[in-house]
Amino acid sequence: MIKDETSKRASFSGRLGFVMAAAASAVGLGNLWRFPYLTSHYGGGIFVIVYIILAVTFGFSLMIAEIALGRKTGKSCISAFGDLCKKYKWIGVIAALVPLLIVPYYCVIGGWVTKWFSMTVTGDLSTLAADGGAYWWDYITGNIAGMSDPTLWFIIFAMLCVFCVVVGVDRGIEKLSKILMPLLLFMMIGITIYEFTLPGFWDGVVFYLNPDVSKLSGGTFLGAISQIFYSMSLAMGIMITYGSYMKKDVSIEKSTRNISVIDTVVAILAGFMIVPAAFSMGLGDSKGMGLMFMSLPQVFAQMPAGEIIAPIFYLLVLFAALTSAVSLLETVVSVFVDLKKIRRNDSIGISAVLLVLLGIVSVMGFGPWMTNFGAFDQGAGWLGIFDTVTNSILMPVIAILTCVFVGYVIKVHVITDEVEAEGNAFVSKRVFEYMIKYICPICLAAILIFGLLDMFGVFSVY
Ligand code: TRP
Repeated sequence: MIKDETSKRASFSGRLGFVMAAAASAVGLGNLWRFPYLTSHYGGGIFVIVYIILAVTFGFSLMIAEIALGRKTGKSCISAFGDLCKKYKWIGVIAALVPLLIVPYYCVIGGWVTKWFSMTVTGDLSTLAADGGAYWWDYITGNIAGMSDPTLWFIIFAMLCVFCVVVGVDRGIEKLSKILMPLLLFMMIGITIYEFTLPGFWDGVVFYLNPDVSKLSGGTFLGAISQIFYSMSLAMGIMITYGSYMKKDVSIEKSTRNISVIDTVVAILAGFMIVPAAFSMGLGDSKGMGLMFMSLPQVFAQMPAGEIIAPIFYLLVLFAALTSAVSLLETVVSVFVDLKKIRRNDSIGISAVLLVLLGIVSVMGFGPWMTNFGAFDQGAGWLGIFDTVTNSILMPVIAILTCVFVGYVIKVHVITDEVEAEGNAFVSKRVFEYMIKYICPICLAAILIFGLLDMFGVFSVY
């Protein structure tokens, strides 16, 4: 949907069109892969509660601010900040560079999904499910087929993205996603219902839904806020770009509410499908980012017709990952076009090369390039470093800068006026003003500082 800057700005037809497009980019591996493993890691129910509270307050306010910034200026993120105040163009530049760091490792995980899809298609589900799902770690560390296999599947997924961007199939993908996304949701609900028949599942449900306050730490808040930015595609300029394609008469507040509800519901559902089952299998909090790849094959292996359901499920996940990865890559491509004024095809070439190079660093980080980064990588090598630096450091910093920019540089009324353009009501205007001027920047700074100190084991205030 997002067109070249230089062409006449197309716009979304109405609220439904806008919400569907933004939701398709928001729902992806963030919901299906990252939310469940963070929930397990940070103690189950307590993380879910903190996440929901931060999503409806911080996530919601920031998304309104970003969409309104985009619609007000009609520009993508780099130009939007500079247009309103020349001195602050650099905030947009940093935000725009985040997708460049995310898309390579996103494609590495997309590669795992593609591999899992191919394995289940060829009837190898039992291999994935054996030994408590040990295959995942053995596979990514090269113990099974060397490092060439994980590299190959990463490149297959990455090239699929590049292909989509080159031929510009976003329209087709969008149409397809209107059918496949609901299908994925139905399957997730069906799988979860089936899981209630598994032994020990109820204990897992209690772990997932019952908050245990003793597990709260500075890390919980930093983890939750990083997940909100990642999952709702915030603090990287993407919602600014989406906003620039929105018509004036569409309500920003209602659209934002719809997008954030859809994204949060999908995440919680994905958690329900993965976290309790993993808990009852004893995978618990120690397995980190492999959770989805280790626990679900075991569920499918026990399920009647699991051999047929598993490949369909992984295909749908693959599709959800692809839609998000394509719009991430599309952002990277348009950033180079904007910044360097180069041709789109050259920009695609440069982006593809960077994508492959940085992605290979993540793949090899599980193999020969494995290094111990301590708390920093949370046991996931270079992939963990890219993930932490973007979501737990850069994005909170960009979010704080955005709040300060909106609250004190251009002043908050510029944004609230935009939300109210053409007679749209802004029900939570007062709350929004307080959030952006005081609560968001102060709390985000506190979360960032205490979260980092906690992560590095310097000290914990909880
Ligand atoms: N929100 C996406 C997910 O949950 C990931 C993502 C982050 C993204 N930023 C984006 C997708 C920008 C598209 C565009 O997986």
